[in-house]
Amino acid sequence: MRASIWAQDIHGVIGDGAAMLWRVPADFAFFKEQTTGCPIIMGRSSFEALGRPLPNRANIVLTRDVRYSSPGIVVVHSLDEAFAVAEAAAEEMGASTVWVTGGGHVYAETMDMVDRLVVTYLDIAASAPAADNLVFAPVIDRQKWAIVTSESDEDWREHSGDARWMVRVYDRREPRS
Ligand SMILES: NC(=O)c1ccc[n+]([C@@H]2O[C@H](COP(=O)([O-])OP(=O)(O)OC[C@H]3O[C@@H](n4cnc5c(N)ncnc54)[C@H](OP(=O)(O)O)[C@@H]3O)[C@@H](O)[C@H]2O)c1
Repeated sequence: MRASIWAQDIHGVIGDGAAMLWRVPADFAFFKEQTTGCPIIMGRSSFEALGRPLPNRANIVLTRDVRYSSPGIVVVHSLDEAFAVAEAAAEEMGASTVWVTGGGHVYAETMDMVDRLVVTYLDIAASAPAADNLVFAPVIDRQKWAIVTSESDEDWREHSGDARWMVRVYDRREPRS
């Protein structure tokens, strides 16, 4: 399965291109639990915002810069290449999911290429020092995406760090072409 995973604030903000806008350790642990042992695909900006590859995952980084390299990552130059490399890595690792882990550009570009969305809603309005650079989650078209009730929260989870949080999982209504 191909799935995207992100956390957004009450306005749909996922970042400001630089610093983390919130600290919600329980959601961070949820992200870690979901993605550990799997390939993760991210854009070059998200990788640089992280500052390092995430351990125990195959880190696949998208860039159009053919000279780009960094230790501990696999660099790819197109979405098709990203999924091909990720799916080969998943097979090798025995992982059942390839994760798209950001950021805004890559989530938007891959909406037609993934089967599942795992979204954390944070009950917080992110305070962004660089408000001009806000990065938003993609809009989820409910005509195309159905909520998976068995895997989604009906209510807020306990407050963690800066906010209470809630997970909703959406599956594509029609298989992707
Ligand atoms: N809240 C969350 O869950 C979450 C998760 C992840 C990231 N984020 C945040 O999202 C922000 C970054 O998002 P962003 O939209 O600015 O950038 P991004 O999507 O992380 O990366 C964009 C870059 O990826 C490369 N790229 C994208 N599509 C490509 C394609 N089809 N082929 C080749 N290369 C491609 C390009 O790199 P080059 O310019 O090098 O060519 C592009 O500039 C950060 O603030 C980060 O913290 C938040």
